[in-house]
Amino acid sequence: MTAGEPAVRKDSWSQPRRYRICPSILSADFARLADEIARVERAGADFLHIDIMDGQFVPSLTFGPILVEAMRRLCALPFDVHLMVVEPLRFLEPFARAGADHLIVHAETVPDLRAAARAIRARGLRAGGVVKPGTPIERLVEALPDLDIALVMTVEPGQGGQPFLESSPARIAAVRAAIDAAGHDCLLLVDGGIGEETIARAARAGADSFVAGHSIFHAPDPEGALRRLRAAVERA
Ligand code: DX5
Ligand code: ZN
Repeated sequence: MTAGEPAVRKDSWSQPRRYRICPSILSADFARLADEIARVERAGADFLHIDIMDGQFVPSLTFGPILVEAMRRLCALPFDVHLMVVEPLRFLEPFARAGADHLIVHAETVPDLRAAARAIRARGLRAGGVVKPGTPIERLVEALPDLDIALVMTVEPGQGGQPFLESSPARIAAVRAAIDAAGHDCLLLVDGGIGEETIARAARAGADSFVAGHSIFHAPDPEGALRRLRAAVERA
């Protein structure tokens, strides 16, 4: 454990919950990052979603392990680290050391998603796999035996604030059917364009976990926005 790290980190899977809400700090105000994180933690966020972009797999550049390590010192939530980078295997160890709890790798960036997931689990972390909207959903489904999190992108990765793609519910439903048919212990996470209306649609299609950036951090009251998302999904 590094100096300053919270002594007790909440385990991602320890609180049985029907739905998990995961604020994406990509849309937070970085000049007030500590406050932004504290607000969503207080409001009952389940995980903190952290988008790592390398300027190659996606056009934007965001942050690396140094920032994750700094956030680790002020937040006890599980860190859900979404690797939008061309060589994710190089970065498993640095992000694990920085305090990631879940590492999510794009199928498009590795020769073998199942092997990548096993490499993540070998470090004691939860393994996630993800596909872009244009990638056949089978690429994710075939890796399910080695995944703790199956992430279906509901926008093109690369930036926050985009609209939920209409092709998403059918893709979510296909992954849900595969998880249930085999009885996998795997969360079905969606990422992109999630707000009060789309969270309900994604849940009805079979998602149980939801990343939300813009709809939480660009709301006048992020705590209230998070609670309204939870209420909307509970009603779905
Ligand atoms: C997009 C990222 C998302 C993003 C979602 O590439 O993976 O996590 O922050 O943002 P919203 O919720 O604003 O679509
Ligand atoms: Zn993301």
